Amino acid sequence: MLSQKGGTGKTTAVRHLADTFHRAGLKVLAVDLDPQGNLSDYLDVDPEAEPTIRDVLVGAAKAQAAVHASPGGIDVIPSNLLLAEAEVALAGKMGRELTLRRALKPVADSYDVIFLDCPPNLGLLTINALVAADQALLSAEAQYFALQGVEQALEVIELARDGLNPDLEWLGVAFTIADMRTVHSREAQASLKEHVGDKLLDTVIRQSIAYAESAERAVSIIDHRPDLGGDYLRLADELLRRLGLTAARRQLKPLLDAAQPASSPAR
Ligand SMILES: Nc1ncnc2c1ncn2[C@@H]1O[C@H](COP(=O)(O)OP(=O)(O)OP(=O)(O)O)[C@@H](O)[C@H]1O
Ligand SMILES: [Mg+2]
Repeated sequence: MLSQKGGTGKTTAVRHLADTFHRAGLKVLAVDLDPQGNLSDYLDVDPEAEPTIRDVLVGAAKAQAAVHASPGGIDVIPSNLLLAEAEVALAGKMGRELTLRRALKPVADSYDVIFLDCPPNLGLLTINALVAADQALLSAEAQYFALQGVEQALEVIELARDGLNPDLEWLGVAFTIADMRTVHSREAQASLKEHVGDKLLDTVIRQSIAYAESAERAVSIIDHRPDLGGDYLRLADELLRRLGLTAARRQLKPLLDAAQPASSPAR
């Protein structure tokens, strides 16, 4: 998951897609590639947990050793501020763009899906993610500049395709943090739709202060506010369909059926 702009809801999306895919019976690994460590915190990984993704990227630990089980049952390779320094060191190395891909290879077969949560820039860590990934998922906050951020991210996806990862596919754009009562959000959605067409996922993730609370408590929105949880269940269902993961969709169905529809604006 990537975006050129910061704060577009990437980490929140990765946290809940990892959660919903896990609830759909898939074996999921979430990799935190941001020195801010937001995903690790949100998944309630011990802040002292070691080794981290930093150790994996500098070659001090194997990926397998850096996998920590989160209380929610999702496997996580966590991150912390030390990753910032490691990124600088990595920049001077041969094959620097391939480091993550090579490091994750030994664990890849143990998982159905691996989520990579990128930092808020298109630097070396994001490039590593795009070289390691099969699919790129973009997030766009419901703002006027959303399209610009998406276009810049798409250019970087193109670069990865032209160079080191020709098989990289573009899974879609998730429309996050939206208040569809406002003209502003509706216009942002329309302009994205016009530019990226069907790549824009239909599900709208409604804006709610409850996400900040859920992050602070390190609890999934599905447990914290089941009335809002339907948004990420619906987004997960769309993505599972695009990925052709039919059995997982079937397992998600009862949760989806029980979820409240998105007809009302969130609080
Ligand atoms: N649907 C939502 N409604 C309201 N607030 C949200 C929603 N989703 C995320 N947020 C909040 O918006 C902020 C940014 O979200 P998040 O950290 O997921 O974005 P990000 O793209 O990962 O940011 P960064 O670029 O810094 O990594 C957080 O405070 C988060 O709690
Ligand atoms: Mg983030």
